[in-house]
Amino acid sequence: MDFTLNDEQRQLQQLARDFTRKEIIPIASEYDQKEELPWQVVEKAFEVGLLNPSIPEHAGGLGLGMFDECLIGEEIAYGCMGIYTVLMASELGIAPILIGGTEEQHRRFLTPLTEKAGLAAFALSEPNNGSDAAAMGTTAVLDGDEWVINGTKMWISNGGLAEVTVVFATTDKQGGHKATVALVVPKDAPGFSYNKIKHKLGQRASLTSELVFENVRVPRENQLGGLGDGFKIAMKTLDKTRIPVAAGSVGIARRAMEESIKYAKDRAAFGRPIAEFQAIQFKLAEMAIGIETGRLMYQKAAWLVDQGQPHGFESAIAKAYCSEMAFNAANEGIQIHGGYGYVAEYPVEKLLRDVKLNMIYEGTNEIQRVVISRNLLK
Ligand code: CAA
Repeated sequence: MDFTLNDEQRQLQQLARDFTRKEIIPIASEYDQKEELPWQVVEKAFEVGLLNPSIPEHAGGLGLGMFDECLIGEEIAYGCMGIYTVLMASELGIAPILIGGTEEQHRRFLTPLTEKAGLAAFALSEPNNGSDAAAMGTTAVLDGDEWVINGTKMWISNGGLAEVTVVFATTDKQGGHKATVALVVPKDAPGFSYNKIKHKLGQRASLTSELVFENVRVPRENQLGGLGDGFKIAMKTLDKTRIPVAAGSVGIARRAMEESIKYAKDRAAFGRPIAEFQAIQFKLAEMAIGIETGRLMYQKAAWLVDQGQPHGFESAIAKAYCSEMAFNAANEGIQIHGGYGYVAEYPVEKLLRDVKLNMIYEGTNEIQRVVISRNLLK
């Protein structure tokens, strides 16, 4: 066991921390209010090497592992979970290409993302199904050497903006998960359009879309894995990408704790700083307990991924635990700030709005408990 970061990891963490302080924290509130994705941050992240770092070296990328990706994630989410979701959801779009694709497909779809700032997306959920992912209604029909896609996807981060979108579709609606296929759809495919979803509670700097496919044609070479592999590619992807959600949650909780410490030292009541009251101290202590515990859990899950070991159980625990822990930290952060916590002048209200989504996307926390308990009982 060794809990120390190596020199490269420390540098990476510092790079992400500096980037967050300089490029994200100053604009986070503005873009949250405007409900707009700050594209300049994506470009700057690309310039410094923080965008799509998991793209392997054989496709021209850095080939960072999950542990390193999560180190970056905790720092960026500290500044803004919405902006982090833009970067994280791109990794979510890249993961199924890495899992189900050949090296030729890695190069064809991912090398362009190493040449200029660009995003990927992952399209699984639909207007009428989310948790029951195998029950998808989007269809893919083979016509000669092309797949023809029809249907609607919902709640897609980076949807419509991404250069490549991995779309999960069914070849037979009665066929369940065995009839699913994963297809890579380029941004400019004719018949592919999107509608931005507005008025989200939080994470408003990230673009969330409804995707519409009307006779969208992609060549057969855009199919990842075999026919019927779509669902398993999606599940293997989520087993990995739930870990960065956990890491981002720890970043949010750390922000809630640090903002609360600052406020509690400044704010006086009954003739002394509120930090001197045990009621406040215990809230801070609870936050620290959660952050330290959560970080160990996401780091363990990420380490398992990098070791090539099974990690679905740990990833589900990390995602559920860290998002709920961070929700509580943000909630208590508001409580410590009192009335000031309830308005946008202080950052804690945004933390609560943002972190709520971490309990829902990439599988609700109820689904995480399904995954955990199935592992226990199998
Ligand atoms: N890895 C590999 N294979 C898996 C797997 C995994 N983690 N989980 C299941 N499978 C396999 C099973 O072994 C089984 O294969 P066989 O038929 O060969 O035995 C097959 O897949 C079907 O498995 P289940 O019967 O267990 O599947 P299920 O229909 O009961 O579903 C579920 C299981 C866990 C509930 C799954 O549907 C699920 O994870 N749902 C949540 C979906 C989700 O997380 N959506 C998030 C969307 S992404 C997002 O939020 C986007 C964003 O923009 C941020």
